[in-house]
Amino acid sequence: MNSNKRIIIFDTTLRDGEQSPGVSLNVEEKLQIGRQLKKLNVDVIEAGFPVASPGDFESVKRIARELRGLQVAALARANEKDIDTAWEAIKEGENPRIHTFIATSDIHLQYKLKKTREQVLDMARAAVRHAAKYTGNVEFSAEDASRSDLDFLCKVFETVIDAGATTVNFPDTVGYAVPHDFGRMIRYVVEHTSNIHKAILSVHCHNDLGLATANVLTALEQGARQVECTVNGIGERAGNAAMEEVVMAIRTRQDVLPFDTAISSQHIMAASRLVSMLTGMVVQANKAIVGDNAFAHESGIHQDGVLKERTTYEIIDPKDIGLSKGTLVLGKHSGRHALKAKLEEIGYKLSDEEIDRVFLRFKSLADKKKEVYPEDVEALVAEEVLRIPDRYRLVYLHVAGGSGIRPTATVIIEIDGKEVDGVSLGAGPIDAAYKAVAKLVKTESHLLRFAVNSITGGTDAQGEVAVRLEEGSYVVTGHGTDPDIITASVRAYLNALNRLEHMKENAPQKKC
Ligand code: KIV
Ligand code: ZN
Repeated sequence: MNSNKRIIIFDTTLRDGEQSPGVSLNVEEKLQIGRQLKKLNVDVIEAGFPVASPGDFESVKRIARELRGLQVAALARANEKDIDTAWEAIKEGENPRIHTFIATSDIHLQYKLKKTREQVLDMARAAVRHAAKYTGNVEFSAEDASRSDLDFLCKVFETVIDAGATTVNFPDTVGYAVPHDFGRMIRYVVEHTSNIHKAILSVHCHNDLGLATANVLTALEQGARQVECTVNGIGERAGNAAMEEVVMAIRTRQDVLPFDTAISSQHIMAASRLVSMLTGMVVQANKAIVGDNAFAHESGIHQDGVLKERTTYEIIDPKDIGLSKGTLVLGKHSGRHALKAKLEEIGYKLSDEEIDRVFLRFKSLADKKKEVYPEDVEALVAEEVLRIPDRYRLVYLHVAGGSGIRPTATVIIEIDGKEVDGVSLGAGPIDAAYKAVAKLVKTESHLLRFAVNSITGGTDAQGEVAVRLEEGSYVVTGHGTDPDIITASVRAYLNALNRLEHMKENAPQKKC
């Protein structure tokens, strides 16, 4: 049994997380998330898959160059071209890691790779040897490990450790594992891989059966010491193990999970909001740790209990994850100076020009909303500062609706810096506004999903709208906030249209 209790947090929000359907982040957005991951103090950031596209390559390179004091990893299939490209992207990092992988399950060998076990073993060995010529920090992943023959898997791990792998990763690629059986498999690997003590054993669990976090925790009990996870649990299909769940489970249940991470948990909420905002993936209200309802007490008995003693119904102090609900930050009379101070307090050091932009939006928000909370300010920063320079930008919106009136929208938007205007009727005011925008930008996309949420409580709360658009094989999400729900809806639509443009230009073959 591994007596070292320190768990390495390997964050793959920017790689596996970005493989969530409809998500495409640009370089600036990835850097913003990377900086927040650094504040969280993750050990490793998997910044992307450099060979997948020039955009991926560029963002991995920028992240490796800028983010110091942590390891930056790049993904590569088990071939020289992928590995050379990955190294080219990360070589300026402080402690760069090449993460190479190949599938080991018979089902992948037979149908996907059309290779024998011997061939896969040779490819894995050759890939790790090649990567180890560049760096002593090499991770090898056995894709679909949880459906692989365990003796073959142990042989692969033994071979790659001999070839220079310093971390070996056991992915439950399709989220097929259940905790007690996953624990048994991890124990088997620990007991039957003769040189396993020379490497860190890692796990990477997908959430197809809703068991990712449970599987991770079981694996730690059996000797795994690295967890691959994402903020909000985003990722391929049903996503990955959520970092906030793993970290807070360990912190909360030290009695049965006596492990430790280096995560500064007070930055969890800000990371969750940032990732949600930039990916357009809204966090479900009942999501553990970071969902809107995670600390809401509806029943009178519960409210009474919490008022008497918080721990009656709260197992985590909301402050520990940086949840500041109920803390008034600013009001309508607050000036630019106060806004700047508050921004710094919640972790944003902005340039004068960026503060000016946020201040303009803040003033207009404070006119409509009596109390402005930290989460409101974060939403403004995400919209005004952290986004790509948009091709389409909302300048003016007027809608007329109500009973007995045919809903009409007048919209002015800026397209590549030039203002254009349009009017449209619709089934309702949002429909009218969307039709007006669609005509102006001549989009061929279809709306797949439209969801509204409120950032804080109260009827004056900012509305948060998420939309999903489809055009041909492209699917994108968009996100918008405003106290006026129709304005928030148009912002979300324009954000999705901007992302669609960006995806068409940059990610013709992003995924592998
Ligand atoms: O799910 C998976 O198997 C992966 C590997 C590339 C680690 O994402
Ligand atoms: Zn994965």
